[in-house]
Amino acid sequence: MDIRRAINVEDLRRAARSRAPRVIFDYLDGGADAEVTLAENTRAFNHVTFRPRGAVAFPSYDLRTTVLGHELSFPAMLAPIGYSGVMFPDGEAAAARAASKAGLGYILSTVSCCKLEDVRAAALAYSSMSPSWFQLYLVGGRAATEATIDRAQRAGYSALVITVDSPIAGNRERDLRNGIKQLLGASTFAKIPYLPDLLSHPRWLSSYLAAGGLPQLQNVIIPGSGPMPLMDVVSALSRAAIQWNDLDWIRRIWRGPIVVKGIMIGDDAKRAIDTGATAVIVSNHGGRQLDTVSATLHALPEVVAAADGQIEVLMDGGIRRGADIIKAVCLGARAVLIGRAYAYGLAAGGEAGVTRAIDILLADCDRTLRLLGCPAVSALDCSYVETRSPAFMQNQQS
Ligand SMILES: Cc1cc2nc3c(=O)[nH]c(=O)nc-3n(C[C@H](O)[C@H](O)[C@H](O)COP(=O)(O)O)c2cc1C
Repeated sequence: MDIRRAINVEDLRRAARSRAPRVIFDYLDGGADAEVTLAENTRAFNHVTFRPRGAVAFPSYDLRTTVLGHELSFPAMLAPIGYSGVMFPDGEAAAARAASKAGLGYILSTVSCCKLEDVRAAALAYSSMSPSWFQLYLVGGRAATEATIDRAQRAGYSALVITVDSPIAGNRERDLRNGIKQLLGASTFAKIPYLPDLLSHPRWLSSYLAAGGLPQLQNVIIPGSGPMPLMDVVSALSRAAIQWNDLDWIRRIWRGPIVVKGIMIGDDAKRAIDTGATAVIVSNHGGRQLDTVSATLHALPEVVAAADGQIEVLMDGGIRRGADIIKAVCLGARAVLIGRAYAYGLAAGGEAGVTRAIDILLADCDRTLRLLGCPAVSALDCSYVETRSPAFMQNQQS
């Protein structure tokens, strides 16, 4: 499918499925275990209904917001998506360029194939104001992490995002079935049973053969041995579980704001505030870590209440339409992170695909605001929505 003709994110998802080998598409599309949380994240938006104001029209509608002082053209940033570079060559740089073009921010994952300096340069391609944040896992040990933080600081990343929901990798059954470990690993022999999947996707395969094969992790440099191989991350994660007191150490070497990602309960939001975080992201990692944890939209009101206006609260998980973004803002999110919605575009067509995803969501947001009869994102509040699901009612009572 021609991505320019995609009219919604589901079209981009279909295009990604057709271009990428199954192992890559399922890595992006799938979740942990029975994928209950993955499904709930999107379903939760259906339980929130709008309460539009009729017979109102404004001369203009303002979609802009600010996050940590950065202006965004609409309340969204691109989430850290590990291994974006296996979806499309130079995937991280392509996504950062598309974000910059649209006036959005980009968050680079530790688990990325492009050098963080190159991604920051790409983020400046269209605007010198585009914010880039760096998402940190402690894989590689403290010396490697300190070196990465130093590089990120010097390259111009303006916030550090610490992901706290991944003491080990989630159990992603699709990845096990498709042999992702074997395909990304070093043994040629172990790859053989899984090669037909790659060979039957010549467009994806030829783009990687032309780029010289799959890259390594350019932002985890192990002292004495170089960039970490792609597949070592899974075992490295389990040796690098982050704890609250690690934030004290990180604060000493990182001079900018710290954003804690993966908060699902009010108490953890308070803990993040106590450790000096400037913002939290309500996130369950897109349903890829602990399965049957609640949908993030359901967790949002409790975290917003606990934050009590002291820090900014962002959220992600299940955003597939602009109306989802508007609902999250109505329920107290400063902005959302877009995850798979842009990554489908990336896997389908690189930078052009990400741009298409952003354009679709932006147009949705604009239309939703007009149909709601609300002049600006900054004027949205809970009076524009109704939350009737049992999970919401529980949160509102507590
Ligand atoms: C393929 C994939 C890779 C991801 N890699 C990371 C990562 O490296 N670091 C991180 O903090 N979150 C990672 N996430 C989680 C996203 O940042 C975000 O929380 C999630 O995608 C939001 O859900 P959504 O995809 O339904 O929008 C990843 C998500 C996906 C789909």
